[in-house]
Amino acid sequence: MMIKHHETGKSYDDWNSDENLRISNKPAGTALMQCVKRVGQLAATGWASTAITIAQSAHPVANIFQPQATPAESVYHLSLLVLSVCATIFTIVAGLLVFTIVRFRCKKNDEHEPPQVYGSNRIEVAWTVIPILIVFVLTMATARVVIATQDQRAPKDALHVTVVGHQWWWEIRYPDLGVVTANELHVPLSTPRKPAFTYLTLQSADVAHSFWVPQLAGKTDLIPNRTNTMWIDPRETGTFLGNCAEYCGMQHANMLLRVVVEQPAEFQLWAAGQKAAAVGGSFMEDRAVFLSLSCVSCHTVSGTPAKGTFGPDLSHLMSRSNLASGMIPNTAENLRAWIRDPQAIKPGNLMPNMQLNTLELDAVMNYLSSLK
Ligand code: CUA
Repeated sequence: MMIKHHETGKSYDDWNSDENLRISNKPAGTALMQCVKRVGQLAATGWASTAITIAQSAHPVANIFQPQATPAESVYHLSLLVLSVCATIFTIVAGLLVFTIVRFRCKKNDEHEPPQVYGSNRIEVAWTVIPILIVFVLTMATARVVIATQDQRAPKDALHVTVVGHQWWWEIRYPDLGVVTANELHVPLSTPRKPAFTYLTLQSADVAHSFWVPQLAGKTDLIPNRTNTMWIDPRETGTFLGNCAEYCGMQHANMLLRVVVEQPAEFQLWAAGQKAAAVGGSFMEDRAVFLSLSCVSCHTVSGTPAKGTFGPDLSHLMSRSNLASGMIPNTAENLRAWIRDPQAIKPGNLMPNMQLNTLELDAVMNYLSSLK
């Protein structure tokens, strides 16, 4: 069927062949369809792989809709506002679209193009002013949350922690407590009666990373040669999962993070244990083997000549629940596999395969397993 313009009586084929209007809709339409199809395919594969990852992974997905600290709560309330505004816009636009498709669809034997309306000051003013107002409201609401979160001064008794992002692990330092650890941030519980704030100083040793524990706070980047700050006041004990939220190289997705929230007394106990010198004294031979290897140029074990800072501090390795920045549980079997060939577990990570022989591997395993 040939569709004709209602005024000129020209068919669209004529329009397209007109010298002044040589705009064919076909390539654009086809390209759009291909684009939509491709996005659909990508979404399908993306969802499938995400579903597989979740099924295989031991870690549940952290949820921004279950905030357990003040900064996360303000982000949560803001996101509810943004989502409701967006949902309203979507409903109106989709509703009008469906209405138009149904109401103005091409009728049988109707060869004429519907009336074309060009220009309407009222409608144009409306669709310019309304979005500006919406953007203004969202900007103001966002600015309020950002300022309220960032302007919060650290109380005198706040716990200060420095977190340094590395490819692909987290260095965690408690300067006031003299504690250094990695990948598992321990903080005290905050209660209305005894609020406990943890202030984080965020830095990077190499590229940009981003500290994100969805249930505790929004994302804050760790930028080379720059110091950022953030704070949390967790209201629930337990382990909160997070991850690096800024693409930082091959193992970005395996730069996982745990925040362990404990009762204050429990936290003090943990800190005292971390502050104590590394044990492992009863394994003098194993210790000697470890210290003779080049492990010591990258790792620190407190109270020994091992003072490397390129890799995680190993002084109390056995107190951590996971290895390889949250990738695998800290079991004897996994630790052995990791030392034997870290590249097989986390390809591209900066710990090389040390080519240890069985005796060396046994000794290093025994020694590390003694570092409670
Ligand atoms: Cu660190 Cu992504």
